[in-house]
Amino acid sequence: MKSKVVFGLGVLCLVAGLSKVSADETVRYSTHIKPIFERHCIGCHGADSPEYPEFKENKKRYLKMMKGPRMDTYAHMLYFVGWPDTGALMRHLDDGTNRKDGKHADMYQYLGSTEEERKRNLHIFKEWVGYWSLKKWKDTTKEEIDKFKVLY
Ligand code: HEC
Repeated sequence: MKSKVVFGLGVLCLVAGLSKVSADETVRYSTHIKPIFERHCIGCHGADSPEYPEFKENKKRYLKMMKGPRMDTYAHMLYFVGWPDTGALMRHLDDGTNRKDGKHADMYQYLGSTEEERKRNLHIFKEWVGYWSLKKWKDTTKEEIDKFKVLY
């Protein structure tokens, strides 16, 4: 009986140890998201792109220039996850899994040149956000906001 308890404890420690290792591999902006962004997104969302309110005000002009809103820093990107443009990153990157029409969103195509690469990079974005909700601010609760990981 006693040995069973000791064995059980041993397994518990092992499991705890393993989960600690994967916690060390947490997806971060600095190590995971920034390189993907610089490879696939910066051409249209870089420092020469407008701030979001300016983009919205003159959208037609920027669309003609193939420019989206600026998103090239950690702080800028958080704007499109948490607030004020809640869920925008998720709405525009989703592969269709969470959309009513089942179609992939408009920015999904830019995640990579092959379907395999797009899937892999979407997975990394999902891990980084931590709570893949496509909801806008008015439909999002404080508890849901709390579920965003978005580590630097
Ligand atoms: C070829 C240019 C181009 C590339 C590359 C590109 N985007 Fe975009 N993006 C745009 C344009 C243009 C819009 C505005 C679309 C609209 O409003 O109709 C946009 C919109 C967005 C939005 C929504 C902003 C809003 O209005 O709330 C997000 C989020 C986004 N892009 C993320 C990304 C990410 C992440 C990548 C890289 C994986 C990426 N984009 C790659 C051009 C691009």
